[in-house]
Amino acid sequence: MSEAQFSVAGKVAFVSGANRGIGKAIAIELLEKGAKRVYAGARDVRSLNNLISHYVERLVPIELDVTDASSIARAAEATRDVQILVNNAGVLHVGGFFSKDAEENMQQDFDVNVWGLLKLSRAFVEILKNNRPGAIVNISSVAGLGNMPMIGGYSASKAAVHSMTQGMRGELAQEGVLVMGVYPGPIDTDMAKSFEMEKDSSANVAKDLVQALLTGEEDVFPDMMSKQIGKTYAGSPKAIEKAFGEYRG
Ligand SMILES: NC(=O)c1ccc[n+]([C@@H]2O[C@H](COP(=O)([O-])OP(=O)(O)OC[C@H]3O[C@@H](n4cnc5c(N)ncnc54)[C@H](OP(=O)(O)O)[C@@H]3O)[C@@H](O)[C@H]2O)c1
Repeated sequence: MSEAQFSVAGKVAFVSGANRGIGKAIAIELLEKGAKRVYAGARDVRSLNNLISHYVERLVPIELDVTDASSIARAAEATRDVQILVNNAGVLHVGGFFSKDAEENMQQDFDVNVWGLLKLSRAFVEILKNNRPGAIVNISSVAGLGNMPMIGGYSASKAAVHSMTQGMRGELAQEGVLVMGVYPGPIDTDMAKSFEMEKDSSANVAKDLVQALLTGEEDVFPDMMSKQIGKTYAGSPKAIEKAFGEYRG
């Protein structure tokens, strides 16, 4: 538990990949819990039209591709009042390390999930410090706590996010910026549509995440499956490795 607990009421947030899935649910939950403004990052801002028509000026569309340095720079320049950065944008390629196109697929997963997250965080860190108390919320995955062979490269990218979250937390410990890692299990979005398994909802993930900001939690397991996995991982990371290793889709 961190000391940097805060309510989102009256705060200004930036969410990457806010046009659909978990990012959209997070933007909605932040606004419903009283955020003053949410900057919604999207590659195509027209995909935000529904959100804009509902929340009007409290939902500000920002064109953002996290693999494009100039797009990131423009986004940060236009949003100097941000207090909460949610690194949500992500991609997933199915396949293991020895599958066809593994290197190209893993490169793309890392470009968005790892390098995109790092570049966006670096672009915003001084803004967050200036507007403290601040928060960086990194969306990792339970797949970052143990490698799932059917999504090996993606798992590796989310393990990198887990490690970067720990490093950022240490680096910003004295700067008034809470760094939260979020580790969802399977969630019912486009990303997980090919996986035949029970899935929780984006809305539940968003509710848990915003509640965790309130209590200053550092590691958030926001759905039914991840809560169970989080408990097992705390006792035995090896047990998670074994369980995930046996799951081949
Ligand atoms: N769904 C799950 O089961 C699950 C579980 C654990 C963790 N997660 C993580 O949760 C996060 C959200 O996933 P989701 O399930 O909501 O997936 P999703 O429905 O596929 O949405 C992905 C979002 O990321 C955006 N995005 C992709 N590449 C981008 C780029 N280069 N620049 C900016 N935005 C980009 C997408 O924008 P476009 O619409 O333009 O493509 C979209 O808004 C991801 O980090 C994912 O890894 C998901």
